[in-house]
Amino acid sequence: SAAEKGGWDSFMDKEIHEGPAAVQRTLLGRLGKDGNLNLDEVRIDEHDFKAIDKIIVIACGTAAYAGMVAKYAIEHWVRIPVEVELAHEFRYRDPILTPRTLVVAISQSGETMDTLMALRHAREQGSKVLAICNTQGASIPRESDAVLYTHAGPEVAVASTKAFVAQITAAYVLGLYLAQVKGAMFRDEIAQALDSLKDMPRKIQWVLDTQTKTVHDAAAQMVDAKSFLFLGRHVGYPVAMEGALKLKEIAYTFTEGFAAGELKHGPIALVDEGEPVVFIVPPARGRNVLHAKVISGIEEVKARGAYIIAVAEENDPDVERYADVVFWRPACPTLMSPLVDVVPLQLFAMDMAKLKNYDVDKPRNLAKSVTVE
Ligand code: G6P
Repeated sequence: SAAEKGGWDSFMDKEIHEGPAAVQRTLLGRLGKDGNLNLDEVRIDEHDFKAIDKIIVIACGTAAYAGMVAKYAIEHWVRIPVEVELAHEFRYRDPILTPRTLVVAISQSGETMDTLMALRHAREQGSKVLAICNTQGASIPRESDAVLYTHAGPEVAVASTKAFVAQITAAYVLGLYLAQVKGAMFRDEIAQALDSLKDMPRKIQWVLDTQTKTVHDAAAQMVDAKSFLFLGRHVGYPVAMEGALKLKEIAYTFTEGFAAGELKHGPIALVDEGEPVVFIVPPARGRNVLHAKVISGIEEVKARGAYIIAVAEENDPDVERYADVVFWRPACPTLMSPLVDVVPLQLFAMDMAKLKNYDVDKPRNLAKSVTVE
């Protein structure tokens, strides 16, 4: 009903706007006063955490892309390998699991059968399973050794939005906690990362407050486009995949997300006059070598007549030069950028679907939680 939507005309709209609160609530109570992380709630003792030498994230759909983002951060922070695998692939390939492997099952609903079967398999092999879940008491957290809840609040729209940013937040908290327990980072480095994370709700809000109209106008202009390419590098790569997924899920547009470095290895053959290409551009500051590489990718597709939509940091002059449309992000560390960069892509997919008069909350052929294998 209209009341349930709290004044928004769709649950998706409402839930995108709850992104800042979802991140904030997921951090709540987990940051100790002295800059220490407090994760007593997860019920895996410190000794077991210390012994963990590998993480495997299992998930499906949007949750899997949150896991891909987390891989970049956790490997950087904790210096242990993190694999990310679609739960349905993991289960049937005889994965290598030991008691020192931490399997992290990410699921908004906590009822996705593929993920549930995969976690059962992991536990049978003697690995510990930690669930990152948005639904209290659902099957996945119930059957896991430990759980870190995302406190995004109930998500109704089939296309996952606020849960994605909450999942990244929870996985980052887990990563920083592991770094703390294993002594993989200095205290002040952990504190600094947590400070950046605490800043993100405000930055997401800035995107919602200032970029919505640009996104809407871009959608109106491109509503007839037959296909879109989404490209990103590093953490921008899973964001590109997620942006592509949103648009196919609810606007039924043919999309592909690629690692921008793959452009010359295939996807550039698809680029023709007027083809819309969305680039996630990393921050230009510091020693970010990837910024120049993504910009040169933009130049290459631009030379072939592509229509460029960029998600980029405020005042990035290179982006201004080449992009037809820019969705700006406020300055933030690269590892934090997915939390803001996904937001205009969520809005873009929603606007496209609305302009085509599709039911944005209940797309055809899809279910909110897929409880069959
Ligand atoms: C379905 C939904 C997606 C979701 C995926 C995983 O495909 O339509 O939005 O990302 O399941 O769901 P989960 O509840 O496990 O996060």
